[in-house]
Amino acid sequence: MIMRQPAADVRVSGGTIPAGSTVTCLIGAANRDPERYARPDRFDVFRDDLSTTNAFSAAADHLAFALGRHFCVGALLAKTEVEVGANLLLDAMPDLRPAAGFAPAERGLFTRGPAAVRMDFTPA
Ligand code: HEM
Repeated sequence: MIMRQPAADVRVSGGTIPAGSTVTCLIGAANRDPERYARPDRFDVFRDDLSTTNAFSAAADHLAFALGRHFCVGALLAKTEVEVGANLLLDAMPDLRPAAGFAPAERGLFTRGPAAVRMDFTPA
């Protein structure tokens, strides 16, 4: 989630957010809007309703890194970290796979994710 304090009164969805009030925007919920994304709770790296070409830019069609002038300046570093980390992991453990029967549970509010993800692999 991200927080904002409007400088002036703002009309949103039929209500008014008064100037100076603190608004907590649940961008995680927005990223799972079923009116915007098909099967929003499904982890799918091949989904066709989310472009990967602009996913790490301020023109992204999701809100994970926010949008506009406060767009995350670390988005491309985050992308590189995942690419390098995932490649190292898969080179070392080519048959890495989710542990049978393990269902990761997300935790947290400001940031959210599973505390652990159990995996199986064949030791080299
Ligand atoms: C997956 C990893 C990351 C996620 C999901 C993420 C998410 C976000 C979000 C949602 C914002 C907007 C906050 C707001 O508008 O109030 C933000 C801003 C920011 N992020 Fe990230 N971030 C990530 C990684 C990083 C990294 C690796 C760095 C630095 C090395 C970084 C540095 C920043 C900075 C400096 C801002 C403030 C930009 C501004 O207000 O102009 N982030 N990030």
